[in-house]
Amino acid sequence: MPDLVRIRHATAPAISRLALHLFDLAAYEVLYRFSPVARKRFFNSGYLPLSPDFRQLPALAGEEASAMMYHLLLADLVADLAPDPEVILDVGCGQGGGLHYAHALYPKARLIGTDRNGTVTRKAARFLATIPQTRLVKGTGKRINLPDACADFVLSVGAPTYFGLSTYVAEAARCARPGAVIAFSAGYRQGDHAAIQAELRQAAAENGLAFHLYRDITPQTFAALKADIPRRAEELARVPWPFRAYGWKWADMPGSEEYAEYTSGRRADFACVLHKP
Ligand SMILES: C[S@@+](CC[C@H](N)C(=O)[O-])C[C@H]1O[C@@H](n2cnc3c(N)ncnc32)[C@H](O)[C@@H]1O
Repeated sequence: MPDLVRIRHATAPAISRLALHLFDLAAYEVLYRFSPVARKRFFNSGYLPLSPDFRQLPALAGEEASAMMYHLLLADLVADLAPDPEVILDVGCGQGGGLHYAHALYPKARLIGTDRNGTVTRKAARFLATIPQTRLVKGTGKRINLPDACADFVLSVGAPTYFGLSTYVAEAARCARPGAVIAFSAGYRQGDHAAIQAELRQAAAENGLAFHLYRDITPQTFAALKADIPRRAEELARVPWPFRAYGWKWADMPGSEEYAEYTSGRRADFACVLHKP
C-alpha cells in the first residue's frame, strides 16, 4: 500500500503533501494500466491461511490470498450477524475481484462498486458485466459517490485509510441501511492498534453504529506477504520506471522500510465490523 497515511500525518508542508498525493494518484493509474497489476482482479495485501470454507473460483485463480481478505469480511467475521444482503457495496472496489467473490457467497444480492480510479472502475464493470444489475460508479474525493441508505452490506478492503478512518465510518454509515453490516480492513504503518480501535469506536458511536469487532490481522497479512515475495519480485521487475522503486515500497518488499515495520512489530493491519441498528 502507498505512503498516503504516512504523508497525511507528516509535518511536511502542504505543497509537498499535495505533490505526493498527486504522485500517488498517478502511481495507481500506471499500476492499473501498465503494470502486471493490470492483469489481476485484486490489489490488496492478502490474508493467509485460507479458511476451510474458502471458495476457489476459477476467475480468481492464483489470487486466493487476496480473495481470502474478502472472505474474511463477507463470511468469517460476520457469521454471527448472519447477513442476507439485498445490496452489497464495495468501496474502493479496484478491479472487481471482491465483488466477484461476494456474488459467489451471496448470489441474490445486487452489487455496487465504487473506486476513485476511472480506469479500474471501467475494468471492474467489464469483468462483472454478466452479473445482472451490477453498478460501478467512479468515486470522488472523501465522499462515497452514492446516495444515502443504498446498501445493506458496506464492504471495503484497503480504501478506508485514504478517506481517514473517521471520515470513512461516517460515509459508510450514511450509505448503510438500517440493519446493515459495515465490514472493512486496512493497514497502517507505524500503527498502533489501541489508537486505531479508539478512533473507530468513537466514529461508530458518533454515527449511531454498534461496534461489533476489531481484529489485528497483521500476522495473517504478513504470512500472505512472505508467501508472495517471489512473485512480487518477478512482477516488480516489469513495472515501468520511475514507479519501480515506489512499487517496491508499495509492495512492502524485503529491504523496504515497510517490510521492516512488519518484522519489528510496528505494522498494524486490522479488520473491523460495525452494525447499523
Ligand atoms: C489497496 S487498493 C484495494 C482495491 C480492492 N479493494 C482490492 O482489494 O483489490 C485501494 C483502492 O481504493 C481506491 N480508493 C482510494 N481512495 C478512494 C476514494 N476516496 N473513493 C473510492 N476509492 C478509493 C483506490 O483507487 C484503490 O483502487
